[in-house]
Amino acid sequence: MTTRTLPQQTTSHPASQDRAALAPRITGMACRNCGLAQPLAIAYVCPACFGPLEVSYDYAVAAATFTKDAIAQRAPGIWRYLELLPVDAVPGRSLPVGSTPLLKAERLAPVLGVQRLLIKDDTRNPSLSFKDRAVAVAAERAVEFGVPALACASTGNLAGATAAAAAAVGLPAYVFIPADLEPAKVDHALAYGATVVPVMGTYDDVNRLCLEVADETGWGFVNINLRPFYAEGSKTLAYEIAEALGWRSPDVVVAPVASGAMFTRVARGFEELAELGLIERRPIRFVGGQAAGCAPVATAFELGSDVIEPVREPDTIVRSLAIGNPADGRYAVDLARSSGGSIEAIPDGATAAAIRDVARLEGIYPETAGGVTLGAVAAARRRGVIRDGDEVVALLTGNGLKTPDARTLGLAPGALEGGRAHPGEPGLAPVIRASLSAFEAWLEDGR
Ligand SMILES: Cc1ncc(COP(=O)(O)O)c(C=O)c1O
Ligand SMILES: [Zn+2]
Repeated sequence: MTTRTLPQQTTSHPASQDRAALAPRITGMACRNCGLAQPLAIAYVCPACFGPLEVSYDYAVAAATFTKDAIAQRAPGIWRYLELLPVDAVPGRSLPVGSTPLLKAERLAPVLGVQRLLIKDDTRNPSLSFKDRAVAVAAERAVEFGVPALACASTGNLAGATAAAAAAVGLPAYVFIPADLEPAKVDHALAYGATVVPVMGTYDDVNRLCLEVADETGWGFVNINLRPFYAEGSKTLAYEIAEALGWRSPDVVVAPVASGAMFTRVARGFEELAELGLIERRPIRFVGGQAAGCAPVATAFELGSDVIEPVREPDTIVRSLAIGNPADGRYAVDLARSSGGSIEAIPDGATAAAIRDVARLEGIYPETAGGVTLGAVAAARRRGVIRDGDEVVALLTGNGLKTPDARTLGLAPGALEGGRAHPGEPGLAPVIRASLSAFEAWLEDGR
């Protein structure tokens, strides 16, 4: 039998990294619960209270160079907001992530019952989801720490993002997924050269295993031991929205919620811009969307509770959001409540219909989480959280090519069966001979 060696830590332990090497705007980490300060390291839990660690900044130092004029001169992509990201310098090697468009959705808006709808189209990042933002930051920090491999526990999109980023920075990638994940997502991660490890069980089972693997191997798990850095990457969604609006905030932001990391960090991003004086401080209502078949945060919101009751057996086509025990669930429900927003639970049928509507009416094709987000726009409008005249920004965070089966859910049997579409009808027409007469015969047939 041969024993294969796994990549091991070769540099000194990151916890011992020299503090003086950090950019002065990064002051270290602090516990979100008790505030205990910690040195910057590959760490994610507070040693005193087990709360989550977050990166802390010296905003006065950041403000000196983080101005509207300076930002306007910089190249597109997430690194134009470097001062508020936990990396020392713009990476030498990374994928071109971010600067995705904010588009007016004038045809879709009335279908969802709202007047002013903007879509943040994050379906078109390098690996086709917003996860590229989070992973780019974690990967760069991982390189600075000298980890031997990049890894993740994924509900699908993170798999591709981690694999792609590892390829770009030249690290091996280990991607852990639930064994029954959508084939397109598995294939996507494989294409970038990752080692994909399917695990029997739910995402939460995968995550539990990865906590142990991270301890054992010292690999940089982007959403576990690199989580404080990973989470920061999602703030760039807020910076880009504010910049695209001419440095101001919208009335309502609607986003999908799985672990709740992105939802809560988008809010933090707007908060930081207000703190630095780049936008006026105005209230923003934050609306989150979950799939009804895995909605621990929406349930807590509905019950008026702070306790997130884990969902043991998620039952939904929305695999990307199927986290039964969300790490930032408590903070997500608190954000929705304190901002005057809501967390909506969207049935799969409504999610599929929303995917079809936005693709057909706006030319944007999101994966299931995007369908949930648009379902949440309509639900929040019905609830009265979205009011007349509100400017609503909906985050479409992943690409529909990753979940090709979701689109057809709920259609009448045979509705999209190949070879049936008549002229003027959406769908696949019958195969015809390469002759004008054959084409005309089909046209005639449809009359
Ligand atoms: C497309 C997409 N949108 C949103 C999310 C939610 O991210 P978070 O775990 O930060 O709540 C995910 C998570 O996997 C995702 O894949
Ligand atoms: Zn603490």
